[in-house]
Amino acid sequence: MTHVSPAGKKPDSSGTGPPEAGKALYGGKGSRRITVRDIAAAKERGEKWPMLTAYDAMTASVFDEAGIPVMLVGDSMGNCHLGYESTVPVTMDEITILSAAVVRGTKRALIVGDLPFGSFQEGPVQALRSATRLVKEAGVGAVKLEGGERSAHQIELLVQSGIPVMAHVGLTPQSVNAYGGYPVQGRGEEAAQQLLRDAKAVQDAGAFAVVLETVPAEVAGEVTRSLHIPTVGIGAGPDCDAQVLVWTDMAGLTGGRVPRFVKQYAQLRQTLGDAARAFAEDVVGGAYPAAEHSFH
Ligand code: KIV
Repeated sequence: MTHVSPAGKKPDSSGTGPPEAGKALYGGKGSRRITVRDIAAAKERGEKWPMLTAYDAMTASVFDEAGIPVMLVGDSMGNCHLGYESTVPVTMDEITILSAAVVRGTKRALIVGDLPFGSFQEGPVQALRSATRLVKEAGVGAVKLEGGERSAHQIELLVQSGIPVMAHVGLTPQSVNAYGGYPVQGRGEEAAQQLLRDAKAVQDAGAFAVVLETVPAEVAGEVTRSLHIPTVGIGAGPDCDAQVLVWTDMAGLTGGRVPRFVKQYAQLRQTLGDAARAFAEDVVGGAYPAAEHSFH
């Protein structure tokens, strides 16, 4: 679906359109989509920016209206949208359908589609096939994939083929079965050096940004200062260039325990439950529908 701006003009998705009225990724104004060139310019300006996950058109439209410049259709949809116990079972079909919905629901944000477990590990050609599907069928502006040195060849081929890649190092949740949980990564001198090598490898392969997940703040700070591409932290302290949260964690919709690094900015689980109970009581007690909700 093509969006038409309030002024009646189609947004320019080329990234080469007129300069934004205000350049800032968050708070800037403009009628075209954010591109990876805007992300690179923000790093040069030393500007910090927010990123949220999104899995459906309606929620994505709320975040787009709020000015969130980058949205990730993450395979975290497995845990917080599709009812799986981890991200491992998520399929290309699921990511493609939900990415397309998020693209349809947004006008400005750069939409990044996640490559799920099993869709890129075979090698660069498999990664290219999966990423091409997300770009062509869902319309995402970039893809994300997990892994540092081990995924560098995949990143290289995607970038050479014209597909921007966000890399993801530190804790990579698709490896939950190998980790036996979700342990902090990059602790200790040797692990910190490996994290730095991973981050440099994905930068050298052409990634436009790299997620650092669940690593010590000091190590994330050192990685951020060593790279010319932006780092996107999640559980990685305050020194990253950007911060990402799973939206259901950020808004208090997730049930049960949330990771320690999450700050909740609303309590949607409570609000939604209260609304459902109020509706149920009105129906059972006959207060809904009232005259104003009825046709005659
Ligand atoms: O799938 C996801 O949501 C992610 C973010 C947490 C970075 O990978």
